[in-house]
Order: sequence, then structure tokens, then C-alpha cells
Amino acid sequence: MIESEVSSSAPLEAGEVILETRGLWKIFGENPQRLFKSDLKDESKEKIQEETGLVVGLRDISFKVHKGEIFVLMGLSGSGKSTLIRNLIRLVDPTAGEIFISGKEICALDDKELMEFRRRSTAMVFQAFGLLPHYTVLENVAYGLKIRGMPIEERMKIAQEAVETVGLQGWEEYLPSSLSGGMQQRVGLARALAADPDLMLLDEPFSGLDPLIRREMQDELIQLQSELHKTMIFVTHDLQEALKIADRIAIMQNGQIIQIGTPEEIISEPGSDYVQEFVRDAYPATVLTAGTIMEENEPDIHVWQGPKVIHTLIHRSKRDFAFILDKRNCPVGFLNHKALEKLIKDGGERVDQAMDTEFETCTPDMTVEELFPLATASPHPIAVLDDVGKLVGYIRNHTIIESMIQEDFEDSLEEPEDTDV
Ligand SMILES: Nc1ncnc2c1ncn2[C@@H]1O[C@H](COP(=O)(O)OP(=O)(O)OP(=O)(O)O)[C@@H](O)[C@H]1O
Ligand SMILES: [Mg+2]
Repeated sequence: MIESEVSSSAPLEAGEVILETRGLWKIFGENPQRLFKSDLKDESKEKIQEETGLVVGLRDISFKVHKGEIFVLMGLSGSGKSTLIRNLIRLVDPTAGEIFISGKEICALDDKELMEFRRRSTAMVFQAFGLLPHYTVLENVAYGLKIRGMPIEERMKIAQEAVETVGLQGWEEYLPSSLSGGMQQRVGLARALAADPDLMLLDEPFSGLDPLIRREMQDELIQLQSELHKTMIFVTHDLQEALKIADRIAIMQNGQIIQIGTPEEIISEPGSDYVQEFVRDAYPATVLTAGTIMEENEPDIHVWQGPKVIHTLIHRSKRDFAFILDKRNCPVGFLNHKALEKLIKDGGERVDQAMDTEFETCTPDMTVEELFPLATASPHPIAVLDDVGKLVGYIRNHTIIESMIQEDFEDSLEEPEDTDV
């Protein structure tokens, strides 16, 4: 199964699972079950279509989405993103497989239960807004609560809060037609938020908006999410959008999920040519972190060790510098090879006489973009410190530049050049 094949270090991995699918298939066409009885099941989508007339919409999809996570489905047009999102709440019925949302087995629900489940536990936001034209903004936002049977006063109060959350106060009594596209999509978002669902499903919600408004909406979604911690499945075919908003991204191709990972994993370890092609134009500086591009600091070299011992240790580590540590393993200085040799030649006995106490530091979660100014501020590598200030690694300035050039990146980590100082 895909999930177990793909390594993911997403911090949410251990969290509560809101959605899980197991072996989900969607085959379009007459009598789709016949595919499972034939030996064509594992053939390509094209071959299956050629031989049987059946269209493989989804093929053996297994993945999990955790509480509070924005899980992005990304892939080219026709890769199956909308089909998947619709199957999850059976707007389209899957041909095979299992779906669990908040512990409920969705395929086992009868029509009434399914309707009730959709109303109470999920909310969808579409590209084409889907607003009711004769309802005001506030009524549109309250609509989902109305069909749940919530009394008017209560639902208007909740709708009002949602309208304010998306920044539309003052527009409550207007009709959708008097709003711009961006504002209409805010209404769509407010309607989903007002329903307070376990799972929000957003199918290319920002695709109809012009680029500036689109970026603004992405920023707002991130801002909202930092306060509300909703669980969302968000479909996009725009890589930049995916990288910006996703906790994890699933890449789809021909109805399959071919890779799942954090934005950083997708960028730094694209698992196939298809994914590589997708990420080619990505701007890795906003996604790659110090923790990924750093080299580990080995061995520890301490300020009380003698210059000659340190010389040997540096020599063995095949570097021409060292960060000098105190007894808590926090760096107190940067020592380069030349300064050390001069110290030894002059008969100096303490390395703190030769080290430079000015150097830049960062934490493992800082992005390469945030490292740029640090790299230019000092000629020394940047010390990477954990949350108690211990040295965990270092980043040479040239590594920062090379991490920006995708193809050379992995090589540069394997064989760092000694261009430092
Ligand atoms: N009702 C249907 N009957 C037959 N084939 C269908 C049907 N709905 C979808 N498909 C097929 O399923 C595949 C996936 O389509 P889907 O709309 O899910 O793609 P998508 O990734 O959402 O694309 P887009 O980015 O264009 O929205 C396509 O090959 C499509 O032709
Ligand atoms: Mg679609």
C-alpha cells in the first residue's frame, strides 16, 4: 500500500486519524466489477480502456488524513483528484474499497444516514462557489445549519461569526452577485466553517480567482488554520499553492497516489520522473529547511581540549574548521584550520585564543530562504542549534546556494567541497 511505502516524517503522523481509505477503486463504465474478474486489473489505464471501455478513475487508493492537517491532493488534469474527493463522501460511489471518516464506515451507510453524515460531519468548497443566488451572504452561510434543522437565532449567530472570521462583516445582507469572486469564495469558506465539520473538502477553491486574490486567499487560509486547526483535504494542480498550504501532499497520476510526503520531502526527494517534473519549477528555498541541508557535527570538539588534539580531530573529520563547544555542547566559537595551525606554531595552549566568537546560528526548522541573510552576514558556516542551544550541525554557505539548484543538491550533500574560509 502506498502509505506504508512512502516514508513521511510529518509531525502529524501520530495524530488522530480522521479519514482513512483502504484499497479504493473507482471504475467508470458498464458493469465495472468485470474488471476485477479479468486479468486486466493491473494493466495501464489506457490498455484497460482500450480492451474493455472501462475508465479507471481511481486505482487502489490507501491513505490517512490526521486531525488538524491540511492534506493536499495534487496532480495533472484528469489524474483523479475530483473523483477521489467525491468518492470520499460518496457523491460518486466507489467500485471497491473502504472509507472511514471519524470512525464511520462510509460505504456501509444507507441513503438517509449518508445524507445526515454529509450534513453534520463534512463540508465542501468548490471552485464554482456554489452559492444560492437569491439568498444573502448571511443566509448562504447559515444554509447548511438550516437544513440540519438548527433554530434561526442560533444559526444566524454562528453564521455571523463565520462571516466575521473570513472578513466579510458589513456584507451580510448583500446577494452573492454583488460580490467579487474572492469575496464569493470567502462566503463559500464561511459556509463550510459555520458547519464546523470533522472534515472539509475543498476542490480547487481558489482556481477561479486572479493570482493576486488567490495568494491573498491562501494567506488567509493559512492564518485561519493557525487558529482553527480544521482537517482539510484540499485539491489543487498548482504546486506553489500546494507547497504553501499543505502539511502533506499526495501526488496523483492516472488515478493512483504515487507519492505522499511533506512539502519538503516532495521537493527534496521526488519519487519518480512525474513528480520530478512537477517540482522542477518549485522554488525550494521556501520549503527546504536547515535540518535537511545541514551536515552533522562530528566529532564534538570542546574548548578545554588542547590545540594539538583538536588539530588531529579536525584532520580526521576531513574538514578545515570546527565549532568549539562548552560542556553543555553549546558552541562558543568557530575555529578555522589556519588560525589553529598558527596557534600551535606560536606555542599557544588554549583554543579560545584562536577562535572567532562571532558566528551565525539557526534552528533546524528555519527555511533556506531565512538562511540567506545569515549566510551573507558571516564568512563562517552557520551553526544549527536545537531548542536548548546545543550544536546539532552546520551549514556551509555554498550548501545553501547549491540546495537551490535541484539537480545538484543531493550530490552536494554527499560530497561537500572544502571551500569554506
Ligand atoms: N462520469 C465519468 N465517466 C467516465 N469517466 C469519468 C467520469 N468522471 C471522471 N472520469 C474520468 O476519471 C478521470 C479523473 O477525472 P477527475 O475529474 O477526477 O480528474 P481531476 O484530477 O479532478 O482533473 P482536473 O484537474 O481537470 O479537475 C478522468 O480520466 C476522467 O475522464
Ligand atoms: Mg477536478
